[in-house]
Amino acid sequence: MAPEIQSLCPSLTAVLLLGACLAAAAVAALGAGDDYARARAPGPLPGGGARRVLLANGLGLTPQMGWNSWNHFQCGINEAVVRSTADALVATGLAKAGYTYVNLDDCWADYQRNKEGYMVANPKTFPSGIKALADYVHSKGLKLGIYSSAGGVDYLKYDNCYRDGTPETVRFGRMSRALKSSGRPIFYSLCEWGYMEVPKWGGRYGNSWRTTGDINDTWSGMLDNIDRNDAFARYAKPGGWNDPDMLEVGNGGMAYNEYVVHFSLWAIAKAPLVIGCDVTRVSKETLGILSNAEVIAINQDRMGVQGNKVKKYGNDLEVWAGQLSRHRMAVLLLNRGATRSASITAAWPDVGIRRGVTVEARDIWKHGTLPGRFTGSLTAVVGPHSCKLFVLTPVPR
Ligand SMILES: *[C@@H]1O[C@H](CO)[C@@H](O)[C@H](O)[C@H]1NC(C)=O
Repeated sequence: MAPEIQSLCPSLTAVLLLGACLAAAAVAALGAGDDYARARAPGPLPGGGARRVLLANGLGLTPQMGWNSWNHFQCGINEAVVRSTADALVATGLAKAGYTYVNLDDCWADYQRNKEGYMVANPKTFPSGIKALADYVHSKGLKLGIYSSAGGVDYLKYDNCYRDGTPETVRFGRMSRALKSSGRPIFYSLCEWGYMEVPKWGGRYGNSWRTTGDINDTWSGMLDNIDRNDAFARYAKPGGWNDPDMLEVGNGGMAYNEYVVHFSLWAIAKAPLVIGCDVTRVSKETLGILSNAEVIAINQDRMGVQGNKVKKYGNDLEVWAGQLSRHRMAVLLLNRGATRSASITAAWPDVGIRRGVTVEARDIWKHGTLPGRFTGSLTAVVGPHSCKLFVLTPVPR
């Protein structure tokens, strides 16, 4: 959730309770002490974010993949929705393709805590409770993620609603230590909307950090998020990822080729691939995008280098590139213009390939290798609001 839509944040009561929870978590994690002064201005990580200082939970070695309830259902969730989503992830093959986290977003919790002070699930919409739901999701070979609170789950998305003025570096660090002391590896997804230049310190505390406000299901909104995210490419690495927010693919606000661009950009930028549509009623077209194994392989490449924008021609034409393992390179040619097809060139010096190198080019959406070989550059015609995505593999001359 983003600051602009705080009306969608939890009620103030819940927030005050959340504050109490945080304080308790901090006390549990730190003893009674507070390291406010130390945590206040951590500064960039040494080596441009290359070293993990605090967090080493073994998770997020590649960007996380899963599903989250918010983009499609907002507050309209209940345990039946979550169970049928888990079923659908398995039935559609999406689980097998890598989408293993099933993440509840806001509105799962009751406004009132229980007598012991713990957050509890809304008894009307989650009558069986979170433990039963976790057991069900685990029985499907999947993992359960939750929002705002820790305990018994595999993933925490921790939002930033009703900030009380305490710096993000302090609040999100406290939760990191609380999760660490939970004795269970919990993927920690920071969601503080990009404040305080979070890419520079998020890796100390979490496995991913939102770099932007909420995405919306529009072409310009989607591009706006990935452009902002692009500025921080060098801070992403195995264990900690920039997060331009969840996928809108399949929610209906964009055309097919625009969703192909959305998914391609998220893949090359090593963004979390968290599905945001209703997978129980997913179309063949949408499934074709989300389960494209070659695109997913770019995102999940073990080198974990975030591809970025390396060249612009005028306002509309762009080249994105990112290094992959085995000396390969992912290259995306993007036409942001609305009306005309255009020829776009990826020149080796721009994408980071040595001048004399010859490559084979695989068209990732066509699942085919282009005829011929390329030395020095690769040019392709790209339709309006469309992209082409290639993997270039060096070959002997
Ligand atoms: C979508 O997001 C963009 C960028 O954040 C914003 O400019 C635009 O107003 C949003 N559109 C809608 C319909 O919310």
